[in-house]
Amino acid sequence: MQEQLTHLRAEALAALEKVSNAKELEEWRIAYLGRKGQMTQVLRGLGALSPEDRRAAGAQSNELKALLEQRFAEREAALQAGSAEAIAASEAIDVTLPGRPVQIGRLHPITQVIREITGAFTAMGFQVVEGPEVEWDYYNFETLNIPKGHPARDMWDTMWIDQKNKDGERPLLLRTHTSPMQIRYMERHKPPVRVVVPGKVYRYEATDATHEWHFHQIEGLVVDKGVSFAQLKGTLEEFAKRLFGIERKVRFRCDYFPFVEPGAEMAIDWQGRWLEILGAGMVHPVVLKNMGCDPQVYSGFAFGMGVERIAMLKYGIDDIRHFYTNDLRFLKQF
Ligand code: DAH
Repeated sequence: MQEQLTHLRAEALAALEKVSNAKELEEWRIAYLGRKGQMTQVLRGLGALSPEDRRAAGAQSNELKALLEQRFAEREAALQAGSAEAIAASEAIDVTLPGRPVQIGRLHPITQVIREITGAFTAMGFQVVEGPEVEWDYYNFETLNIPKGHPARDMWDTMWIDQKNKDGERPLLLRTHTSPMQIRYMERHKPPVRVVVPGKVYRYEATDATHEWHFHQIEGLVVDKGVSFAQLKGTLEEFAKRLFGIERKVRFRCDYFPFVEPGAEMAIDWQGRWLEILGAGMVHPVVLKNMGCDPQVYSGFAFGMGVERIAMLKYGIDDIRHFYTNDLRFLKQF
């Protein structure tokens, strides 16, 4: 019996040394102190001894049991403290590590170009305003001198909002250009007016390297007494030089847009080629009337440009889809 106790003590304490987590500790407890554990078996075995032997062995057994229980409690406390330390250590900041640059965000290239373009115009006294992307047919077409059934509507492949009025028409759409803001703005402001309108526009179009179903435009509108075509040319040439460099050559040619008369396009000289960057013209008398302005008294000019196209030119980007795939390798270059 004496020997058995000595052996059990050595074995149990050695095993306890190796315990390194709560699960192993519980296994140890079951093996040595549990109901079917070795300590319990020893105590049960006492019954078979003679009364004298039993007294001595009983005292030693109880001593060992008390020792194992004490060591168990100590080990348990140590493990708990140890794991708390481990957690603290894993969360600690190593103040000796060398500093690393913090990753910061930046403005999307389209936002940057919008700010550059509107900046060129605000420097010339324009204000920046914005308007809704879900628009009425009335502002997107009707009041811009593009009545229902007019073939010019084919110039804009439109995404209609699927909501019919009592006549079975769909009066709402995703604006196909920023031009509706010309009317909206004039409904609430009196000339003299000089505004630029950046914003998103939508076209029902297949996507390829130069077409997206949604993109950005910047509209411009000037209305006052005595606004002339010379002022249109001067303003837009100044804009081109601010954006593309003071030496930049521009070219104006006739173009057709229902809301201007005469209408024009402006191209810039780009590596020996003429590239069209915007549409423009003198505000059509019908449109002036829709703005609440007497065409005998007031005149104005308007223009509209695609932001992506200008950004692609400026930065040599060959595919419009890069702007919206959110690939950081692309975005980080701006
Ligand atoms: N809204 C036209 C478009 O989306 C662009 C445009 C052309 C706007 C001539 C104008 C303008 O204000 O005068 O194609």
